[in-house]
Amino acid sequence: HRHDMVVVGSANADLVVRVQRHPAPGETVLGSDLAVHPGGKGANQAVAAARLGARVALLGRVGADGHGRLLRESLERDGVDLSHLHDTPAASGVAMIAVGPRGDNSIIVAPGANSLLTEDDVRLAAPLLRAAPVVSLQLEIPLPAVLAAARLARRPVLNLSPAMAVPEELLALCDPLVVNEHEAAWLLGDAGDPARQAKALLALGPRSVVITLGADGAVTAEAGAVRPVPSPRVTPVDTTGAGDAFTGALAWRLALGESLAGAAAFAARVGAATVRGAGAQSSYPTMAEVETL
Ligand code: RIB
Ligand code: NA
Repeated sequence: HRHDMVVVGSANADLVVRVQRHPAPGETVLGSDLAVHPGGKGANQAVAAARLGARVALLGRVGADGHGRLLRESLERDGVDLSHLHDTPAASGVAMIAVGPRGDNSIIVAPGANSLLTEDDVRLAAPLLRAAPVVSLQLEIPLPAVLAAARLARRPVLNLSPAMAVPEELLALCDPLVVNEHEAAWLLGDAGDPARQAKALLALGPRSVVITLGADGAVTAEAGAVRPVPSPRVTPVDTTGAGDAFTGALAWRLALGESLAGAAAFAARVGAATVRGAGAQSSYPTMAEVETL
């Protein structure tokens, strides 16, 4: 096969402002100057894996505008195969991101071209998807496209982000389903101990589950075996896109045949490396940088 993995998903221009605190409804706060970074959960997964050495293709849609060019350039620089990234007569996706003093962020996404990715786009790429050991997914594109990709994939990895209700069929195909603590609590309708949550998520149907826990690493669950995954200690500057890098790295290691626990341990180191720098893709590590952690 030509690719280790295919990412089906979004690309956004991230418009980032650092703030002392996040504004409440009705409030105006002054922030830093604007930074524009390439982002989007799909493109982030693709770049994260490609920068580590994976052979990756991205299936998605960007606008034929300045943001679209920025997104393509970043992906090209990391060697992502863009033969299935379509120019679309719409604005590129944009994310408005506020980053607080501890690297905490809030994000609003205007999907633009991402919202025009169709089931047909995915079906036309069936040979590409069927040939890849892993297809990596998230939820910033229409659900019918995500489901079509999961059906065609040999091994679909889904980051259920942003959190939303999805068909049972999609959950059942995931191997693994990847969520953070908030998304896990949202899916289960109850917060609590991550190991218990992981088992409860497994009962919803996916073949395996990973819950990411930020500085506390992650928990994996498959066939009743629940394992904690440690994370190296780092000082957070900007956590934007850490989950995307985790999932992209995880998907790649699974494509290489690594165990779920082993792949998650590697992905936790990649995720930790990303929070040390500003932006999403701009902070993603090379393999050499991961090895120094
Ligand atoms: O997960 C981080 C990403 O979410 C950002 O890059 C932004 O584009 C939004 O999609
Ligand atoms: Na970062």
